[in-house]
Amino acid sequence: MASIHSRSHSPDRSPIAIRNFSKERYVSSDWMERERTALWATSWLVAGVACDVRNPGQFITFEIGAESIIIARGTDGRLRAMHNACTHRGTRLVTEPMGVLRKFVCPYHAWVYGLDGALESVPGAARFSNGVPKDKLALRPVEVEEALGLVFVRLTPGPLSLADFLAPLHEAIGAYRLDLMDVTNDQTVSHLCNWKAIIDNFAELYHVPFLHPIHRRMFECATAPIGLFEHGHTVVYVEGGVTDSGFPVSDVPSDMQAMQLEAVGLDPAAFRGRVSEIRRALQRAKRALAQEQGLAYDGFSDAQLTDVWQFNLFPNVILSVTPESAWLMRSRPDAADPGRSMLDMITLVRFHGSESPGGDPGDPAAARIGTHFRLNGQRPADYVRPPRDSFTHEDILAGRKTMTVTIDEDISLLGRVQQGMASQGFGSVWLSDEECRVQHFHDALDACLAAG
Ligand code: FES
Ligand SMILES: [Fe+2]
Repeated sequence: MASIHSRSHSPDRSPIAIRNFSKERYVSSDWMERERTALWATSWLVAGVACDVRNPGQFITFEIGAESIIIARGTDGRLRAMHNACTHRGTRLVTEPMGVLRKFVCPYHAWVYGLDGALESVPGAARFSNGVPKDKLALRPVEVEEALGLVFVRLTPGPLSLADFLAPLHEAIGAYRLDLMDVTNDQTVSHLCNWKAIIDNFAELYHVPFLHPIHRRMFECATAPIGLFEHGHTVVYVEGGVTDSGFPVSDVPSDMQAMQLEAVGLDPAAFRGRVSEIRRALQRAKRALAQEQGLAYDGFSDAQLTDVWQFNLFPNVILSVTPESAWLMRSRPDAADPGRSMLDMITLVRFHGSESPGGDPGDPAAARIGTHFRLNGQRPADYVRPPRDSFTHEDILAGRKTMTVTIDEDISLLGRVQQGMASQGFGSVWLSDEECRVQHFHDALDACLAAG
C-alpha cells in the first residue's frame, strides 16, 4: 500500500498517533552517531540533479556528514558513484561541487583515477615493495541510480530498491518532469540548527500564518490537505491564487495575486470584488496560453496549474513543485556538531518552446519571491548553469544573501529553535495534529534507527 492516508486528509485531525519525542535527537552527539550508521549510511539519498551529470566527464560531489561522494558520467555514458578519498593516503580528490574532468588526479602524490574510479597510474610504482594492486586500489564504489530527474546514492547496499522506496510518490512527482528542467539558482547556507529542525519546519504549515505574512496573500494554508506515505514520505497540497481563509478576504486582489494575474495577461483591477474567482481565472488563462504558445500543461489538472505541491522525500529532501518550476531543498548534517547543518536550495525551471508574458526567472523579483507561478520563456541563448553560491546564515540575517522572503524568515528563526532546545528549560516537543507530518517523519526515523 503506497498511501497510508489519502490526499484529502484534513490537517485538523492527525491520522496517526501524536507521540511527541524528546529533544535528544536534536542536541546529542550519540544520537548523531546513530543517525550516521543507521540512517545516512543505509538510506537512498538525493545526491544532486541529473542535468548536472548528463554528459561524459561531468561530475558532482555530494557531502553528507563526514562523507564525500563523487558522482561522474564515464566516457562510456555510465553514471558511477565513488568515495571521494584517494586510496593512497586518503586525500579528498576533488573539492569542487561540480565540474568536467577527464581524470581525477590526486593533489598529493598524483595518483590518477579514471571517471569510473579505476586507478590508472601511480608515480614511482616500482618503489612500492607491496606492489600496486590496481584492482584493489580503485576508488571505493557507491550505489547510484537516476530517477525523477534526480541522482540518488546509497552508501551501504540494502534490500529496499530505489523504485520501491520512491513508489508512493513516483507517479505524482514524475508528472512535473524535473528531468526536463534546468538549474537557474543553486545555493547552500550553513546554519546553526540540527538538520531535522529544517525538515520539521517544512513539514507543517502551522507556523506559516505567523512567520510568513506573504503567504496569506497567495496561498490557502489553513485547510491544505496532506498525505502520509510509506518509508516516511509526506506531501501537502497548497492552493495558490487565493488568500488564506484564516484571514479576512479583501475586496481587491492581494499584491501577490495581482502579480500572478499580470503574469498571465489578466488585469488585476477587473477582479475588484471578485477575489474568490482569481484561482479559477488563472487556471483558465494558463490553459488558453498553453494552447496558443505550446506550453506543456497537458498532463496537469487545473488545480496543479495554480497550486504548489510539496513532497518531503525521506529523510532530508523537500521538493516544492509547480508545472513551471521546482525547488529542491535538502538538509544535511554537519560532520561533527549536531547543532549545525547545511541547507541546499536548487531552483529548477522548465523553459518552454515559445515566448510568454512571464518574466526572466533570473531577475531580482524572482530572487526575492521565487519562481513559482511565473511563466517561463525559451531557455535564454546565453543560459549557463549557475555556480553554487555558498554562504552562512549570518549573510541572510544581514541581508547580504536571500533564498526568497519565506526561506529567509525560516532561516532567521531556526537558529533560535536550536538555542531553545539546548536549554535545560526544554525537554521534548509537544506537537499539534496539524504537525502530524513532523510526527510521521520522526516515526520513520525511529524505525530506521531501531532497524540499524
Ligand atoms: S594521498 Fe593521493 S596520491 Fe597520495
Ligand atoms: Fe516556513
